[in-house]
Amino acid sequence: MRFRCGWLLLFAVLSSGCLTGSAQSDLARFEGASLAAPATYDEWPLVGASLGLSYSPDALAASPSQTFHRVYLNPSSYRAFLKTGDFPEGSTFVLELYEPAEMLSLPARAGKYEGRRVAVEASVKDTKRFGGWGYFGFDNGRAPTATAIDASRCQACHVKHAATDSVFTQFYPRLRQVTAG
Ligand code: HEC
Repeated sequence: MRFRCGWLLLFAVLSSGCLTGSAQSDLARFEGASLAAPATYDEWPLVGASLGLSYSPDALAASPSQTFHRVYLNPSSYRAFLKTGDFPEGSTFVLELYEPAEMLSLPARAGKYEGRRVAVEASVKDTKRFGGWGYFGFDNGRAPTATAIDASRCQACHVKHAATDSVFTQFYPRLRQVTAG
């Protein structure tokens, strides 16, 4: 009796582990050529936060009030990168842009905060499909899926200026600790 219950228990533990394991994958999910918007990215590690960061000479002219950027990375790839210094296939970054806002009510206080969100973009490592990373826009969070943006608009700058595997780890404090050795 004791023996049988033991096996039953083991089976229950293993099968529930398998089920939750597959249900909880946080890697990129494609339907055909469309990337499903990562639903819970706001619960992912925030690897970078910056203000007005750009390599484009026209960026300041186009947007003199510089936007806040937030960069999230899916948790399993975050953990893998800290261990190995590599991003696994299916790794997903999400980049959010926010307009800077100031407190208008008196008494006046200093500083700016994240106001209206103006963009949600993503990048996915899929070497077979994209020869590296694919880049996506989600219409500021309104689109449930997205197809890859033409590589010429996104990829070149990442390949040229980013420190690690086309990712701007130089601006992400915890990740650059790994790449600094
Ligand atoms: C002129 C250079 C340039 C171009 C073109 C560019 N990016 Fe980036 N991108 C950056 C920089 C710099 C960062 C660093 C993080 C930040 O902006 O806060 C970044 C970061 C990112 C990240 C976070 C992950 C990472 O790779 O570091 C995503 C996602 C992203 N960009 C998406 C896009 C998409 C989508 C496009 C095309 C529509 C694009 N980028 C075009 C410069 C560029």
